[in-house]
Amino acid sequence: MLQRRPLIAGNWKMNGTLLDGTALVQALVERLGGDTHGFDLLVCPPFTLLHAAVQLSLSSSLNIGGQDCHTAEKGAYTGDISAGMLSDLGCRYVILGHSERRADHSESDALVNSKTRTAWDAGLVAIVCVGETESERDTGCTLDVIAKQIADSIPGDATEVNTVVAYEPVWAIGTGRTATPEEAQEVHAFIRKSLVDRFGEHAAGIRILYGGSMKPSNATELLALADVDGGLIGGASLNADDFWEIAQSCA
Ligand code: 13P
Repeated sequence: MLQRRPLIAGNWKMNGTLLDGTALVQALVERLGGDTHGFDLLVCPPFTLLHAAVQLSLSSSLNIGGQDCHTAEKGAYTGDISAGMLSDLGCRYVILGHSERRADHSESDALVNSKTRTAWDAGLVAIVCVGETESERDTGCTLDVIAKQIADSIPGDATEVNTVVAYEPVWAIGTGRTATPEEAQEVHAFIRKSLVDRFGEHAAGIRILYGGSMKPSNATELLALADVDGGLIGGASLNADDFWEIAQSCA
């Protein structure tokens, strides 16, 4: 059976000062030590902390990523950050199409698609987020919504090297409600099949993360599911002990 190395990723969102953000990175670097672990660990702090986070992580296997990037390489885009800038700092990943950006910044699948291509061109791994709203689930169209987001947000040529998919049901984000194992596995298996149908057998190696109120108390059950290859964690990633405990659950 194809082995996919679990990825435990923290999305700090708009949280973290220089003082507490660097302390959190330092705590994770200490826990990782020089050992090889059975998972990849990633944190995605706000842009203001990326440089410090990268510098602190250099002696460890901790990966640092951004939470968004622009579609253009550079230019007159006030307030934006390019994929090349993230790469230049030492970031390896970038989260794209998070539901908060889709909702708060009207990001469309087409925009996410374009950002993904720019991220690849800059040598970054794109973590493309998809997920249905509560009303979409209630009306039974979850898989249709996911199918469209996957088809339209991920460009051709996605591989297990340049792409990670994160399934984040919008109703589970920051609410304390989590998808049941059955709900999560159903969507993850559907995403896996969609990727293989479109990109070929190698796409079975694309990691699919679950996100939405993942915490130490539910991580073991979710991470044990056949098609869950890791987590994209918001709130619980802001606490080193909780985040580390979640990572340990997939060991
Ligand atoms: P919570 O873990 O806080 O629900 O956030 C999930 C998320 O949005 C990660 O990107």
